Amino acid sequence: MNSTCYIAGLGTSVPEKKLSNFDFEKIMDTSNEWIVSRTGIKTRHVLAEGQNISDIAYEASLKAIVDAKIDKSEITHILVATCSPQKLSPSLACILAQNLGLSSTSGLQTISTHNPSLVCFDFNAACSGFIYGLEIARAFLALHSNSTILLVTAEGLSRRLNFQDRTTSILFGDGAGAVILRNHGDYLYKVHDVSLGSDGDYCDLIQIGGGTEFEAKVGDVVDESFFLTMQGREVFKSAVRGMAQESLKLLEKNSLTVNDIDLFITHQANLRIIEAVGERLSISQDKVFTNLEKYGNTSASSILLAMEEAREQGKLKKGAKTLLTAFGSGLTWGSALLS
Ligand code: COA
Repeated sequence: MNSTCYIAGLGTSVPEKKLSNFDFEKIMDTSNEWIVSRTGIKTRHVLAEGQNISDIAYEASLKAIVDAKIDKSEITHILVATCSPQKLSPSLACILAQNLGLSSTSGLQTISTHNPSLVCFDFNAACSGFIYGLEIARAFLALHSNSTILLVTAEGLSRRLNFQDRTTSILFGDGAGAVILRNHGDYLYKVHDVSLGSDGDYCDLIQIGGGTEFEAKVGDVVDESFFLTMQGREVFKSAVRGMAQESLKLLEKNSLTVNDIDLFITHQANLRIIEAVGERLSISQDKVFTNLEKYGNTSASSILLAMEEAREQGKLKKGAKTLLTAFGSGLTWGSALLS
């Protein structure tokens, strides 16, 4: 089976509105010094009133389409990784299809009869969403060789943060990313391999409420369970272990060592977690890319925000071996190898 998968275009978008650590000082008992020393985060972007993740997902998608030099009508699949969907239903992928002006008939003009309609759906692998999305796309590409896949990450976690909880609310920000994935034509980077894992025994460690578990009726007031809750210390340890182990597993599977890696981009959750993963892998710190000080933890979008900035700085290069790794609620984790 042909598992070739290329990233042909890349785009990102964050809301304009920013929240700095000093803004948090005004609303809770915290300090810029505490947040920077424990997390490395200085500021994050958050959705403004009336703004939705579909707005930033749309902008990121348009940038990826332009970057890939394709016509949007070539898109056969829209896959959206999110753990903070705009609605329980319909999927953000379908909302995006509408906003992009795509329909199943527009897809019919350019794709093979084996794949006659546009396929849109969301999936939730939390902060590991982008890596999971690469693997889902590889499977679709293997089954339907002429596919042009728009893989989007879109998170609006600020809408599910409890701003009375200083240990969680300071960590997260909103953002979106998008890539065009194909197995033919010009490309930016090749996806060599992906390795994924999950462990439901730890599903209590990070939770976001608001689903059908919430037995609501009109007029009810929400409580803390509606928002993101987390056991920070446990998550910290599992994140370091999960990202380091999965990365080593993927390298070994591809007969590579850490020394072969030119650039290492991890999920941007916490600078101390990233440093600890780097230490476990014994990778030189100048190969480790971080930009979480500007965005906080944008969940599924963090790797794409980092990849875009690494590209702008000339650090993410075609042909160079790039290792990606992520970890999140579920628990879920995964690593991917690009070149
Ligand atoms: N400002 C000031 N003090 C704070 C604070 C804040 N924003 N948040 C917590 N504290 C306090 C706590 O109340 C506690 O005080 P106490 O000792 O008087 O009880 C103290 O700091 C230590 O709290 P603790 O939770 O043990 O801190 P920590 O060193 O584990 O850091 C996190 C907390 C959340 C930064 C850290 O656990 C972490 O980063 N975990 C991983 C989170 C993550 O990345 N999740 C997403 C993964 S996808």
